[in-house]
This record gives sequence, structure tokens and C-alpha cells, in this order.
Amino acid sequence: MQFATIQGDITHCTADCLVVNLFEGVSTPGGATGAVDAALDGALHTLIASRDFDGKAGDTALLYTHGRLPAPRVLVVGLGKAEKFDTNGARKAAAVAYKALARLKGVQHFATIVHGAGSGGLDATAAAQAVAEGTTLASYRAPSYRRTTPDSGPTACTVVEDDPLRLPDIAAGVRRGEQIAASVNLARTLSNEPPNLLYPAEIAQRARTLAATVGLQCTVLGEETMRELGMHILLAVSRGSAHEAQLILLEHQPAGTENQPPLVLVGKGITFDTGGISIKPAERMEEMKHDMSGAAAVIGAMQAIAQLGLQRRVIGVAACVENMPDGNAFRPGDILTGMTGKSTEILSTDAEGRLILADALAYVARYTPQAVVDLATLTGAIGIALGPQAAGLFSNHSGLQEALIAASHQSGERLWPMPMWDEYNEAIKGDMAEVKNSGGRTGGVSTSAKFIEHFTEGYPWAHLDIANVAWNSAEREATHPKGATGFGVRLLVALAEAPLDRKLE
Ligand code: BES
Ligand code: MN
Ligand code: ZN
Repeated sequence: MQFATIQGDITHCTADCLVVNLFEGVSTPGGATGAVDAALDGALHTLIASRDFDGKAGDTALLYTHGRLPAPRVLVVGLGKAEKFDTNGARKAAAVAYKALARLKGVQHFATIVHGAGSGGLDATAAAQAVAEGTTLASYRAPSYRRTTPDSGPTACTVVEDDPLRLPDIAAGVRRGEQIAASVNLARTLSNEPPNLLYPAEIAQRARTLAATVGLQCTVLGEETMRELGMHILLAVSRGSAHEAQLILLEHQPAGTENQPPLVLVGKGITFDTGGISIKPAERMEEMKHDMSGAAAVIGAMQAIAQLGLQRRVIGVAACVENMPDGNAFRPGDILTGMTGKSTEILSTDAEGRLILADALAYVARYTPQAVVDLATLTGAIGIALGPQAAGLFSNHSGLQEALIAASHQSGERLWPMPMWDEYNEAIKGDMAEVKNSGGRTGGVSTSAKFIEHFTEGYPWAHLDIANVAWNSAEREATHPKGATGFGVRLLVALAEAPLDRKLE
């Protein structure tokens, strides 16, 4: 998407379509929408009076201007009830508008006002960011391996603001929104890529290219190095695969932040999860190509953090492994000892995410982090508990938990706190080893988090189980396409931008 931000009166724009908006229940539109209505001799007023359009969130109406404006069409997008409206509403409205325009073959370039920045009362920068995000998220196309290129929607968007004093804020918001949403789309693409083409070394290659482009430092640890470090739990998961495991480190360290304790983001990067010897049923197993969505979110967030130039030290870690069964694979019954020295009994080779995180989280202790947040498509059970509405949040640090919930409100990516009581440890006591990697069906989400906690010594830590929000089997809303959602990127950027020091004392 090509964005431009200009100062002026939207009725003078020459785009293929103008996008204006309407709050639910408003019969006489004001502001830019009112100006368009006046130029169209009250066509919008007539539309509202006819009750065919009432400004409900998610609804749109299309009008043709018949030469009364330079632009041939006007799309009105509903914003819903004014008292419920927020930046999430602005993001959704922009996405809904984009999807409606994408159905029109004749629209390549559209001009839009910033939803919510006028009578909506939102902060201009935040509203502009939301509009650019919604537009960019809705314009996402998954990688295609067809020989013909599919039709694309509009490719150019002009954001119009009539108040010259607000223009710098609007322009800055548009830029931020564009960069953040493009990073969400990068995460989506990584998750959507087929598992034969996107294996651990390929993610590493893409991370290196990204680092060179946006100015991050990238280091990749291969299996030999990980063996020397004693990461035998992570390596065991990789043993059944023909692909080499990779621990990808992306560091954002602007001048002057070298001595800061970093914020560390760790992502589960299982490039394909067959379940290993505890093999999964065949039905919908192909979706397990997205079992690296935690790693994808971390890589996407690191891109945005670098592009936004955040003045803070942040380290992203993608633990990338393929979980396959073969003659060399690890087995149920195996006992493994990794970096921390804690012995672990394997009950299920399909509970592999917590195993690779065990060594990745032990590894990051060397940074003496300010805080560590891991993201993982860890359990099917989190979807039983929460549906697709919120990721599960597990933390043993109330300040970090608070910061994540604040970031969740800001980004619109919902988190819901789940319990971490020590009694859950009973279920994962090993018979012959200190811990076992599955606590059985009951309490499966909390016991998985407690397992991970065993390997997180020396820093505030939170775990996000994103198995229920990382993937949609069908399109859910305009901002949530079929396939990978890129969940977590916006949340992590909001967290990295928040002043954490006081909360983490
Ligand atoms: N990657 C899966 C979890 C998953 C399920 C992600 C559905 C996305 C959608 C994970 O590795 C897994 O297999 N978890 C098991 C754990 C069990 C064996 C303790 C599960 O949830 O069944
Ligand atoms: Mn699994
Ligand atoms: Zn998995």
C-alpha cells in the first residue's frame, strides 16, 4: 500500500473513490462527511432517511457522484455508536472500507479521512495510525504459488486532513501504522509459507536479510553450537527432522542503550509439528505449518521496533525446529537434560513447544533481561478455554502482567490472565526425572505454563499461549484474514514502547 498524507478538503480529491464515515444514529452528518453530502445535494442525507444505511459498524454504502465531485465514487463506512468508538473501531472501519473497495474493479487509488479524529474525539496520531493499520492489514495477500497473479485491491491511499496544524501528527501516525501493520503482514507471510519451503534455515536466512535491511544485529546458532551450550532438550525435538534446528537472535541496540537490561522476546518456531512419534491425527495436520507463529510474531515485532527506532534495547529470539518422526527421533519415555541441568521425562513428543522453550528460555538468562516474554502456539486447550477472542497470559510477575495487559488494551490484541498456582506443579512431577512434559488433559494450559516456568530463572517472565489466535480456518473479520493472523506483533510493539522500569522494580 502506497500512503500519502495531504492537507486539504477531501471533496476536491481526484481519487477513484472517497471514503468518509458516519456514526450510528446520526441523521445530519457534519465535518468532511457533511461536506461530501452537501456537494452531492444531500444524497447521503437521502440514503440515511431511506433507512438503507444507518452507520452501523461494519456496514458500508457506495454512492456515485455523477460529476458533482472530481472523484467518481464515495464510500461511507459505518463507525457504530459514538460512545463505544475507540482506536480499535477506527482500525476496523478502515479495514472494512478497504475490503468493500477491493470488490470494486475500478478502484486503484482512494482518499480517506481519518476515522475518529474529528467528532470521534480520538488522539489524531493514534487515529491515523489505526486507519493506516486497518488499511494495510485488510490489504494483506498470502503468498501465492499459482502461475497467474490474483486480482489485487486498491494499491494507493491518500489520507486527507483539512487542519494544517494537525497534519504533522496525522502524517506521523500514518507512518507508524503502515510500518507496524507491514510487520504484522510479514509475520503472517512467515506463518502461511508452506513447511517444505520454510524450514528453520530458511527462517534464519529471512531474518538475516531483514536484519541487514532495517539495521538489526542477527546471529544464528546451529546445532553444533547448541550442543556445546548443552541445549539437549531443544536438540532432541529436532532429531527426527532432516532440517537443522536454528536459534535465531535479533538484537536492537541503539547507541547509548548497550548497558540497558534488555526486553527479550522469545518465539516458538516449530516449522512443522507432526507430533513426532506421538503423531497427530491426519485431519487438518497441514495447519501445523503455522506452529512457528510465535517466532513469526517476534521477527515481525523486531522489524517494527527497528523501523520505529525505539530508544530501548530489545532482543528477539526465534527457536526454530521441525518436529518429525523417524528412526532417529526422540521418544516418549526418554529422559533429557538441557542447559539448566533439570532432568525432563518425555510423556508426549507432541508437547514439543515447551521443550524447545525450556532451552531457549534458559539461554536468554545470559542477557540479564529486564523482562522476558515468550509467545507460543502451545496448547489446543487454550482455544477450549478462551475461543479465538484472547490469547492466554501466564506470568509470575504482576508488574509485567500489568504492562502486558496495558499493551493489549492499546493494541486491541486481547490477552486474558490464566492461573499459575504452584499446585499445578503436582501434575508435572516426573517419575524418574524432576519434571515431565505433560500433565495430562485437565488443567493442560496451566501445567504447560508451569513446565516452562521451571526453566526461567533470574528474570520477570510472561508466557502467551497464542494457539487459539494465531490462525483462522476462515476469514473472521476484515482485519483477520483466513490463515495466519500475525497476532502478537502489535502487542509486542506496544509493550516495547511502554516505560517498563517502574512496573518491573
Ligand atoms: N502445536 C501444538 C498446539 C496447537 C494445537 C497449536 C492447535 C495450534 C493449534 C502443540 O505442540 C501440541 O501438540 N500440544 C498438545 C499438548 C499435549 C500433547 C500435552 C495439545 O495441545 O494437544
Ligand atoms: Mn505438538
Ligand atoms: Zn506444537
